[in-house]
Amino acid sequence: MRVVTTLSELWAVRESFPGPLGLVPTMGYLHEGHLSLVRRARQECSSVVVSIFVNPTQFGPGEDLDAYPRDIHRDLRLLNEEGVDLVWTPSAPEMYPPGYQTWVIVEEITKPLEGKYRPSHFRGVTTVVTKLFTAVQPHKAYFGQKDAQQAVVIRRLAQDLNFPIDIVVCPIIREPDGLAMSSRNKYLNPAERRAATVLYRASCAAQGAFEAGERHSDTLRRIMVETINQEPLARLQYVSCADPDTLEELQGPLNRALLSMAVFVGDTRLIDNILLGE
Ligand code: PAJ
Repeated sequence: MRVVTTLSELWAVRESFPGPLGLVPTMGYLHEGHLSLVRRARQECSSVVVSIFVNPTQFGPGEDLDAYPRDIHRDLRLLNEEGVDLVWTPSAPEMYPPGYQTWVIVEEITKPLEGKYRPSHFRGVTTVVTKLFTAVQPHKAYFGQKDAQQAVVIRRLAQDLNFPIDIVVCPIIREPDGLAMSSRNKYLNPAERRAATVLYRASCAAQGAFEAGERHSDTLRRIMVETINQEPLARLQYVSCADPDTLEELQGPLNRALLSMAVFVGDTRLIDNILLGE
């Protein structure tokens, strides 16, 4: 497994990897969720590139950029065990040199949900993903359904900018008790860790109602809110029952929906989602 940091090193080795080439963009501190994307890429591609970059521009003021967990040695060991060909660990000064002022903005679908509470987040994500795509030039790129809005935004970005890249979205990997794996789960103390299952419990409660025939978006939202409010350590930021493609909030009866939520458990902000009717 090759590990490169600078763009010139990346360009020097990029050509030597046979296609199809798959890219898995990450911010490191890898868990089974990330590794599921790597394994899918390994199955589908001749060469697999993983990027590890804690992208400063997608963190808002007061968010956890400095505290974001990092363990590059462990990450490299895990990726080596998965048979990854190349790891790119760009530096922040090379990605955003002094004077940097170019941004890629996806408009409407970045406004609701996460975008409402993290106003500059998707501008950072779409800009860095564009830079990763242009540098690596993969044939396929792998993202997780865990960040459902991010996946929709990246699909839009790839389509709108004519990237000849197949965007593959992989299912959410969960802990045995249902908590979606996330690097941020590390912040939870034992009581908060137990409380954090409330996101999945809320999704399952709404999914159960849907499967029993409930089709009204208000009722599905109410079921999620009530479940979350029953958990003393949880503070709801939003629940949503939205169109899975446009991310517009649904009103009235529905056949398919993206149920999603953001919940603070203690000081840790967690997100989760579930697709209904797919
Ligand atoms: P990061 O949070 O490190 O996640 C990297 C990829 O792993 C994302 O596509 C994310 O959706 C996926 N992922 C995370 N947890 C998962 C889980 N439990 N199951 C399945 N997939 C999971 O998302 C980012 O980094 C950044 O925004 C990035 C795209 C790298 C741009 O900086």
